[in-house]
Amino acid sequence: MSTSRQELSNPVPAAEQSAPRPVDTAVRPDQKLPRILQGMLALEDFEEAARRRIPRPIFGYVSGGSETNASLRGNRAVWDEIAFVPKTLVDVSGRMQKTTLFGRTYDMPFGLAPMGGTAMAAYQGDLVLARAATEANIPMILSGAALTPLEAVRAASPTAWFQAYLPGEIATITQLVDRVARAGYDTLVLTVDVPVMSNRENNVRTGFHTPLRPTLRLAWDGITRPHWLFGMLARTLLLHGMPHFENMGPRVPLLSRTGERDRGRRDQLAWPHLELMRRLWKGRLVVKGILDKEDARIARESGADGIIVSNHGGRQLDGAVAPLRVLPGIVAQAGGMTVMMDSGIRRGTDVLKALALGAQFVFIGRPFLYAAAIAGQPGVRHAINLLREEIDRDMALLGITTLAEMRRELLVPARGMMLKDEGGRMKAEG
Ligand code: GLV
Repeated sequence: MSTSRQELSNPVPAAEQSAPRPVDTAVRPDQKLPRILQGMLALEDFEEAARRRIPRPIFGYVSGGSETNASLRGNRAVWDEIAFVPKTLVDVSGRMQKTTLFGRTYDMPFGLAPMGGTAMAAYQGDLVLARAATEANIPMILSGAALTPLEAVRAASPTAWFQAYLPGEIATITQLVDRVARAGYDTLVLTVDVPVMSNRENNVRTGFHTPLRPTLRLAWDGITRPHWLFGMLARTLLLHGMPHFENMGPRVPLLSRTGERDRGRRDQLAWPHLELMRRLWKGRLVVKGILDKEDARIARESGADGIIVSNHGGRQLDGAVAPLRVLPGIVAQAGGMTVMMDSGIRRGTDVLKALALGAQFVFIGRPFLYAAAIAGQPGVRHAINLLREEIDRDMALLGITTLAEMRRELLVPARGMMLKDEGGRMKAEG
């Protein structure tokens, strides 16, 4: 009997096909992994393990959102509103998830989002993320709030991008753009959802401050978390000296009784500064933190090559909409501009839903920081593998072999009965 349509002609050239994989792709603990990682079966698992190892103020800073955490919760809840309609009896043996972005082909459709706290939580955290990303052939975005000089991260990772926080001051913008170019970066990300510091009450409650204040409370937290005290803090101080915030404003040490970071007049940053950056910066320019479709249009007209639709992981305006909800409207305004997304992605199914709604690429943050804090580069490698395997398995279960097939037609609303027919596709009621 003929196998029809897909038949003998495999759509993926033989050379690009993945190596043969076992028929059963179910997750089970991998005995070769370090013990701590054997219990990490999904990205969500890293958070609890990290909570036990990272001092409370630092863990709270990383894991928390702002005020009531409404956006943080909304970022996770939104995925459940969408359900898949899988295709069956499709030969999916040639599936692959390589994705081309800005002319470069990455092995997976996701990268590591920028996180300023990485090297406070994990030994050499920024470098660990950068190296793990390079090894996996995916991008890692170094945060402007990081403790590692941007030059060192780029030297360790040809797939690293740099993300800037900038005030509306021409001299500061010009200096930073020059520095990022000299370091060899090809992609510069400007985060635009931080005109002022957000209200993160949890930071006040846990005693978090940047720079960290050397208080009795922090000392106690360190003593009760020896993995962090010896494996991160003492090791860092002994081998590398005191880390500093290196990439934004005057250098400030990680630990300081009185030091304050000068963030400049971020509340003066406006579209003309983006246009200025476009004139100064010869590489790819990406704007992160867009949620409004008009803003997406202006970003495109101002010369951005791409945007990251994001509510900053629920860390800025509490109640800011979950990016997935506005993604289709933004994609409609994008023209030729690349649209990416972050905030709340934890599962392969989340990645695929975002791609189906028009994202070309996605970024994920916190779980990779936790993985670095728990087990260094092998931890991040394991986390990347978990997500890669989920996407691979989900593609097979959905009946697709390439991510380009991940289209809206494979999605329906998760709630309500299928009552109305809309252009040949049923629409959920209620
Ligand atoms: C920095 O970007 C933060 O969200 O804390």
